Amino acid sequence: QNDEAKAVVFSVPSYACQRRTTLDNHNTILTDALSLLAEKAELSEEDGRGVAFRRAAAVLKCLPQPVTNMMQLRGLPCLGEHSFRVIKDILENGTSSEVESTQQSERYKALKVLTGIFGVGAKTADRWIRAGIHNLRQLQTSGQTLNQAQRAGLQHYDDLNLPVTKAEADAIGEIVEEAVVSVLPDAQITLIGGFRRGKLTGHDVDLLITHPDEGKEVGLMPKVVSWLQSKGFLLYQKTTINSYLESEEGPRRPSSNMDRFERCFSIFKLQKKVEAAQPETQAENGIQHHKSGCRLWRAVRVDLVVSPISQFAFALLGWTGSKLFERELRRWAGHEKAMSLGSHALYDNRQSRYLRATSEEEIFAHLGLEYIPPSERNA
Ligand code: CTP
Ligand code: MN
Ligand code: MN
Ligand code: MN
Repeated sequence: QNDEAKAVVFSVPSYACQRRTTLDNHNTILTDALSLLAEKAELSEEDGRGVAFRRAAAVLKCLPQPVTNMMQLRGLPCLGEHSFRVIKDILENGTSSEVESTQQSERYKALKVLTGIFGVGAKTADRWIRAGIHNLRQLQTSGQTLNQAQRAGLQHYDDLNLPVTKAEADAIGEIVEEAVVSVLPDAQITLIGGFRRGKLTGHDVDLLITHPDEGKEVGLMPKVVSWLQSKGFLLYQKTTINSYLESEEGPRRPSSNMDRFERCFSIFKLQKKVEAAQPETQAENGIQHHKSGCRLWRAVRVDLVVSPISQFAFALLGWTGSKLFERELRRWAGHEKAMSLGSHALYDNRQSRYLRATSEEEIFAHLGLEYIPPSERNA
């Protein structure tokens, strides 16, 4: 028996929302490589190519075993010629030459550093690079005008590029809960984003706020923000009272009860827990410990969203992620079911009506999909 005869051939459905993708990834070497190429494409504003690499990576993330042989990939969806080449390179040589050269490229390094600033996207980074700016020091001496978000992003650069732990997310959740219930007693808050999918760390904390009585949530965000500000919890915030009709995501049908999406992009000042183990670490590290300045707080990116209860299930599904899982849900809805799915509603184009739902399970059922719990949406 040779290896090929024994090789497991995998079979997976083509939409990520038809698959169960846990955090238990057996192909991290391959998916890290494809994700890096996806990121490179996104940073170069080649969105189509970026999605193609994200889809390819997602297929490998849900395989039950490591890929060891190209033959195993026969029949797998979403793997294009380019992705095949990258995988083959890694299986044969241990690394991908394209990934290596990307990581060494000055342009990629500069794009990473500059888009690592909160408030800086691919377009801005590209403009700065063309002006000869490749790092933070050059940016600071360049005389470029930064907006308020970017100034805050630069100021808290190190903290915001440090992973947020689940414990920190829970601590933020408690603060926001205190704020929310003190301005609207029966309001409910839910941890969404990566932490709801079971991730142990994230780049931010995402929280969804609602109230069991429709309409009670209107105008809540400014009050919550004021409370947080008065207690000194906010280093930066930008609140938008989004009009649903103007949102690019949702269906384009007007409806009077659907124009109340309130969002807040913020940077929290989170007090650090005093760790019991600190004296020990200090003894081991000797002089190093206080050198970086022993600060008592850190900055954390926090996204707050307020949803009316009638749209809560859609907001919950839309903000739990992963980003690719969401994208695939919307593609499935549009291409396979002639429906438009957004974070506010689901519209059936054939029946010309909105389909109501009070739980994520109901939305999956409307879409003709098997229910996938948050922990299996890590595509
Ligand atoms: N989202 C959105 N609109 C944005 C930003 C994010 O609808 N402008 C949604 C994304 O589609 C995703 C969720 O919010 O479903 C969380 O996004 P994000 O915090 O960026 O990603 P996470 O999956 O939480 O990953 P991380 O741990 O890195 O924060
Ligand atoms: Mn497993
Ligand atoms: Mn997040
Ligand atoms: Mn977020």
